[in-house]
Amino acid sequence: MPTGLHLPYVAFFGRTLAEYLDMFCISLDQLREGSTLDCPSGPDSFVAEACAAGCDAVGCDPMYAYPPDELRTRGLANLDESFVHIDAQRAALTFRDYPAFKQAKYDAIARFSDDYALHYGRRRYVAASLPKLAFADASFHRVLAANFLFTYAHQDFGGLYEGREFDLAFHLQSIDELARVTRSEIRLSPMGSFASPPRPHDYRDATIARLQQLGFRTELVASNFDSGLAAFNDVLVARRIVRAH
Ligand SMILES: C[S@@+](CC[C@H](N)C(=O)[O-])C[C@H]1O[C@@H](n2cnc3c(N)ncnc32)[C@H](O)[C@@H]1O
Repeated sequence: MPTGLHLPYVAFFGRTLAEYLDMFCISLDQLREGSTLDCPSGPDSFVAEACAAGCDAVGCDPMYAYPPDELRTRGLANLDESFVHIDAQRAALTFRDYPAFKQAKYDAIARFSDDYALHYGRRRYVAASLPKLAFADASFHRVLAANFLFTYAHQDFGGLYEGREFDLAFHLQSIDELARVTRSEIRLSPMGSFASPPRPHDYRDATIARLQQLGFRTELVASNFDSGLAAFNDVLVARRIVRAH
């Protein structure tokens, strides 16, 4: 059995805009150019904060099928439960500042819940599940995808999940779908395994190969983000190669 953090379910767990900028090695100025899909968005406050800062951002998540009050209640309960699991596995974590990480999750869900209530039923938050998204081809300039793909692969393959449904085939179908809905760029994180000792995620190289087949140029960019959960914090940046006509 691999060591490292493990979870029995997909946590409704979300990051802040500041965490997203670090994690994806991207700036607000870059984000202001063109539209962004955050997939999945969970209870992160990226969409709310980015829109407030003048970006065009849309979040999608299967949990957006729930109305605001129910999602706020379910989300907070899920977050409390996830921290019971994570607190119990502190020895597997490498956080520089665990209390700050934890606080950021509660800040994110509070900001998200308020914004979700304001924008419920409109374009900003869309109920959707990989590997099939409810968006037309090339709907977004870029897609940011963090902490569902790769993270919820089974532990034997570099993820932290105890289930096996998000296997390599699921990941490659999801990559195809992210490529379908983006015009220009896909950023994926994390690229490292949750196992100890650290290693690249088992699905990383197959993902890179698939993106290249789909016509993207790929680059692994080292991030300073302190995920605390996995040792490799690279972000995979895939840019669509525009062919001359
Ligand atoms: C840990 S959160 C990640 C949120 C955010 N991207 C972040 O990094 O903070 C994982 C999310 O995956 C969502 N999820 C579960 N199954 C999914 C699926 N089949 N397709 C897309 N998202 C899914 C969950 O609802 C949950 O909100």
